[in-house]
Amino acid sequence: MARFTDEELKEKVQNGFIVEYPDDMTEGYRKALIVQLLVQADTELVSAPAYFGAAKDAPSTNTMVSATAIIQDELAHANIAYRLLEDLGLDKEQLVYGRQPHEFKHPYGFDHPLENWAELVVANGLYDRAGITLLGDVFKNTSYGPLKRALVKVDQEETFHLRHGEMWMKRLSNAGGEAKAQIQRAVDWMFPMAVEWFGLPDDMKRHSGQLEYRLKGMTNDELRQTWMKSTVPLCESIGIDVPAHWDEDQQKFVLEYSFPCEYDEDEKQWLFGEGEISWEQVFERWKRRGPANKSFVESIQDGKGFRKQLEAAA
Ligand SMILES: [Fe+2]
Ligand SMILES: [Fe+2]
Repeated sequence: MARFTDEELKEKVQNGFIVEYPDDMTEGYRKALIVQLLVQADTELVSAPAYFGAAKDAPSTNTMVSATAIIQDELAHANIAYRLLEDLGLDKEQLVYGRQPHEFKHPYGFDHPLENWAELVVANGLYDRAGITLLGDVFKNTSYGPLKRALVKVDQEETFHLRHGEMWMKRLSNAGGEAKAQIQRAVDWMFPMAVEWFGLPDDMKRHSGQLEYRLKGMTNDELRQTWMKSTVPLCESIGIDVPAHWDEDQQKFVLEYSFPCEYDEDEKQWLFGEGEISWEQVFERWKRRGPANKSFVESIQDGKGFRKQLEAAA
């Protein structure tokens, strides 16, 4: 039996109360926390096969080791989040091995193959930055004590992923020619992907349980602006074009294309020319999942098949 009503808990967490035990939660709080942790865990998990695909294109042994270290970090981050879900009564084994690929909750952006080193480092520079933006806010503001403590390690390692991305984006851009062109092509499809990742604009999202329960502190648009505030100047400083700029009058970053818009998965290209689409259409595209969803999840779950074979042989 919960110690508080939902209204009492919402008020308490807004005043700094930290939830430590299941008894402190209401059913509404528990459900909102589970959704948040599932998105976090699945995103970390699926980023591993995505990064692995591109790490195979590492230009040297050294760089292959860095990429592999990042993949290992992501799997550890996934394990932390699934472990926290176990405290809430969920089964890690079932979550990792018992779901269909389309049931995973990671963003649509991680349903696309990363095909070369440039795409890996842009993913580090843009997607890991989206991760830090979201998790940094959770770390600072969450009312759930166990998650706050767990994020200390995650945050430090994500900073390494981000620096890896920034350093390589600079290095390849400075090299010019085809190396720079590859960075530009990767940014062209991955920048709008990350912008969309932050979800519905605030004027369409009237109600957020995650904010009311203080599972996070910033709104979608605030997070999107925070991400652009560091991504746009980074790209500008290395001569990479992005479809966004700082608007002095509005005192915020503005997009230079219809948002949201449709994406051509085969061409890896945003269809800016076709104009704005509805968020309903975006949600339908997310729900259909992207081209690598099945192969990424299966590459993780196949380990289970291997283990079963070993068990049967023993
Ligand atoms: Fe991570
Ligand atoms: Fe990361």
